[in-house]
Amino acid sequence: MCFRLGLLDKKWGRADTVSYQVKVRGQAKVVQVGENETILDAALDAGIDYPFGCQSGTCGSCKSQLLAGEVELEDYSDLALTDDERAQGQILACSAVPVTDCEVAWLETEETS
Ligand code: FES
Repeated sequence: MCFRLGLLDKKWGRADTVSYQVKVRGQAKVVQVGENETILDAALDAGIDYPFGCQSGTCGSCKSQLLAGEVELEDYSDLALTDDERAQGQILACSAVPVTDCEVAWLETEETS
């Protein structure tokens, strides 16, 4: 019986699933981010009120500081994240796919009143 379950797991690929833990500064819970999933999608699924707009790398609303770990960035606009900002460790959560466990902090907006 256990042998069969093991075969099923291998056949359906469940044993090979990769995910990373992402800590969002100021949030109590750690977000589990699946393979090829963005930090923003996983954070929203986890119920975190992460700031966002376009969800396609063009508006910059989800701009964040990568505090630890590494991510790969999917396509995004240079207007949303400049090369200088990227060099300073800033990322767009909607295009950031973790390749290690990470810690991030979204950048404060200037709309506080
Ligand atoms: S939500 Fe617009 S750049 Fe991420």
